[in-house]
Amino acid sequence: MAMVDIHSHILPNVDDGSNSWETTEAMCRIAFEDGIRHMVATPHANFDYYYDRDGHQALLEELRARMPEMQFSLGCDFHLSYDNIEDALKHPRKYTIGHTRYLLVEFSDYGISRQMPEVLYSLHLAGMRTIITHPERNVVMQRDPEIVKSMAEMGCIIQITANSLTGFWGKAPQKLCESFLKQGIVGVIASDAHSTKRRVPVLSEACAAAAKIVGEEKARAMVESTPLAIVKDEPID
Ligand SMILES: [Fe+2]
Repeated sequence: MAMVDIHSHILPNVDDGSNSWETTEAMCRIAFEDGIRHMVATPHANFDYYYDRDGHQALLEELRARMPEMQFSLGCDFHLSYDNIEDALKHPRKYTIGHTRYLLVEFSDYGISRQMPEVLYSLHLAGMRTIITHPERNVVMQRDPEIVKSMAEMGCIIQITANSLTGFWGKAPQKLCESFLKQGIVGVIASDAHSTKRRVPVLSEACAAAAKIVGEEKARAMVESTPLAIVKDEPID
């Protein structure tokens, strides 16, 4: 089964990811070489970058034309800010992956509000299913990893970053990824790729590292069947 990467900044000139079509195409070739056949472009929606769904969709169409050997969906690296939440509740499919229910959610590094469970619950009630992105790199969650477990228990899907597990972000995020894997709360491994050099769209190395902890079958599900179910809008338990 081919791999599916649900988190990447491959669209050119929309955020701090790819800065040209050349880079975008090179990133897609790296992903293809690694065995990835479907990528979700997830531009930031945060205080620095405005999320222009129609503009992003037009770039995605151009990407499809340039890279016909690969499949693409549009999603969003959705920062959990007050304005974003309000807008997502009004337009529940504006930020999700393709036309699915699945929404990537990124928490602030500066603190997690006590209303967090209610906020996630309100998004779920509005028909979205949240995917918590890279909790291992969040300073607050590093201090209190139990938060991540409680999110998994509320039905959030936990997504760790491939290169956190392989040590790119240092020992603390790596150890936390390993601990989440041992606890059985990791749903998906994604690349969160930004470029062709440092933060690349590669999943195979992390899959091999995960396999040493959870076994081959479960590790493969984290880069194959589970992200595939997400882009196809199939339910995940
Ligand atoms: Fe991201």
